Amino acid sequence: MPDNAAAARPGHARPSAVGALPGAGWLLLAVLATGVAVWSMRYGLPVVPQPNLSNFVTRRPALTVHALSASIALLVGPWQFLPGLRARCIALHRALGRTYAVAVLVAWLSSIPIALHAETGAVASAGFLALGAAWIATTAVAVERAMQRDIAAHRRWMVRSYALTAAAITLRIYLGAGIALGIPLTVVYPAIAWLCWVPNLLAAEWWVRRAVPGLQSARRSGARWQSPELD
Ligand code: HEM
Repeated sequence: MPDNAAAARPGHARPSAVGALPGAGWLLLAVLATGVAVWSMRYGLPVVPQPNLSNFVTRRPALTVHALSASIALLVGPWQFLPGLRARCIALHRALGRTYAVAVLVAWLSSIPIALHAETGAVASAGFLALGAAWIATTAVAVERAMQRDIAAHRRWMVRSYALTAAAITLRIYLGAGIALGIPLTVVYPAIAWLCWVPNLLAAEWWVRRAVPGLQSARRSGARWQSPELD
């Protein structure tokens, strides 16, 4: 069913409302995501500028795989939230979706050994491990909902998943601010290992609930969005 037709059904919201960011918000997200991803891909170079991490010395293969695969997920994500692109080229949406899911899986697996040895110790390690667990769980549920053709739920879970991917952006913003404010790394880094993703996830939750005012009634009635996209 086309989104517009779905919107016309009483008690049901437009599924495309989830994941559709206003133009300026999308542009900002795409620019920040591309910037962080391109800079992070320096780990694939033979000589890496500014590595600055003990994991780079002791676990370079895992860190390199993590940086490259996570950068792919960060780069791909924003394009998946463009409703126009989804509608016009569903084959591209599916191909990018598979790329995103595989990239998250590889980036999560490779994050485990480096998270266990994060800078500053156990609090930071726990923050990164929890982020990784939430990241793979939300992405797995999003993929499973797509395979079940439950497109509205698929979009909600992908918003949550990408909000966690965007922790790569918020972490670097907060870290830069912390350093600029002169806060010691031993204080700022453990806090940021949690702050980079928990508020993102809360904001995503607020976004998916506010984007679909009819969500509750749709849930209560057990309604599912059947979309031609995955049929
Ligand atoms: C969302 C789940 C993620 C987890 C759990 C995670 C985990 C980690 C951990 C534990 C480290 C090592 C930190 C340390 O040694 O103290 C790290 C470093 C790094 N991560 Fe991630 N990360 C995630 C997402 C991303 C994303 C989406 C990117 C995309 C650019 C990324 C790029 C990097 C890079 C480039 C480094 C090396 C540090 C730097 O140069 O800034 N990570 N990550």
